[in-house]
Amino acid sequence: PLTANINNHDHLEIGGCDLQTLVEQFASPLYILDETTLRTACHQYRDGFKTYYQGESQVIYASKAWSSLAVVGVIATENLGFDVVSGGELYTTQKALTQLGYSCQEIAQKIYFHGNNKSVAELEQALEMGCTIIVDNWLELQTLVQLGETIPNQKTPILIRLTPGIECHTHEYIRTGHLDSKFGFDPNQLETVFSYIAEQKSLDCRGLHAHIGSQIFERQPHQDLAGVLVEWLKIGQEYGLTLSELNIGGGLGIRYTEDDDPPSIEEWIKAASEAVMKACQRSGIPLPKLIAEPGRSLIGSACVTAYTVGSSKEIPDIRTYVAVDGGMSDNPRPITYQSSYSVVLGNKMSAEINETVTVAGKHCESGDIVIKDAQLPQTHPGDILVIMGTGAYNYSMASNYNRLPRPAAVLVNNGEANLILKRETYDDLIRQDCLPEKLLS
Ligand code: LLP
Repeated sequence: PLTANINNHDHLEIGGCDLQTLVEQFASPLYILDETTLRTACHQYRDGFKTYYQGESQVIYASKAWSSLAVVGVIATENLGFDVVSGGELYTTQKALTQLGYSCQEIAQKIYFHGNNKSVAELEQALEMGCTIIVDNWLELQTLVQLGETIPNQKTPILIRLTPGIECHTHEYIRTGHLDSKFGFDPNQLETVFSYIAEQKSLDCRGLHAHIGSQIFERQPHQDLAGVLVEWLKIGQEYGLTLSELNIGGGLGIRYTEDDDPPSIEEWIKAASEAVMKACQRSGIPLPKLIAEPGRSLIGSACVTAYTVGSSKEIPDIRTYVAVDGGMSDNPRPITYQSSYSVVLGNKMSAEINETVTVAGKHCESGDIVIKDAQLPQTHPGDILVIMGTGAYNYSMASNYNRLPRPAAVLVNNGEANLILKRETYDDLIRQDCLPEKLLS
């Protein structure tokens, strides 16, 4: 949970910074990322593995949750690796790590490249860097073999992604482990895949990967996954492949509202580690290097979004809308997944909560609602509403819908706020626009 408190102005304070002062300084909407909370989650993952897993382990950050130079920077200094899913995330991560002084070899070892339709250019980018590629399908496997054959004396490190056929209770769009999923090899094809790879001199197949979904509160699905993956490891090893790495994906949920009750990072790691160790003992194979790639549970709770209250509309006996200066462009999760969030009145933290209002965004869409039926004190134009838990899949999914510039972000710690994303300007909005000559005449 976030390290926040209420200061003597009755304002919310995060990382020692007064939220109202931050908004005065950086304007709103503003993403406020608390460095301590982010680092603490990194420790919890690493320490959890050290405590509960007897083999080697690695935590890699699913950078799709929020990829930017500063986020990569903080997480890299915690010694985590990175899961990237596009040339753009690969580029961002590589740039950040290079600027931080990591060598090419260190960078290669930190990055795992995902994606169900990597382009040839992206694969070349990854091969040149030397990172591990998580192979999703036959086309990719064959392309890699072709590309690899042109680079002498180098084996391409890969993991094979499979669809494990495990159901979990989460939103349909963020479920990935069930058999009817676009990701990974169908288990029925795996033995053919193993025997194909065993013939390829340019590939170094290090292990297996599966991811079952996101915002998961149960421990059982990952325990089941461990069992399935260890069985496949054993089969793959029988084909002569080394397969010494097991990547169980991410997916641990966070507490957006009081109704959410996820296990702690420690509990999740414990359950997964024990399941892998038990399955290995049963199958009689040595403990693989165990990899987890969490996104949301690393960064989700570490950030809040501050908005300024503007207009409101009271519809007697039906609803009161209170509008803020952002919405679905900086947080598309409510309109996309009907996600819930919690909110506080950041500049009057002890005011009595006596209203039920719907917090609406400023976009030209009725569905642009930040929170339905929020419990709040009375609000006035100029007040600051703070939405909690916006670190994951907010900035990374943000858009310029209605030509709203994307917000700024600051990293807060010890009373200091560092700008990590500049607020976009109107000029940024038209930067890529081209006006064909012929329209000018
Ligand atoms: N590994 C793989 C292969 C993934 O596909 C994902 C998420 C993760 C790791 C990280 O999962 P996490 O620990 O963050 O749950 N935009 C959606 C979430 C999509 C998740 C996609 N994959 C949302 O806003 O809820």
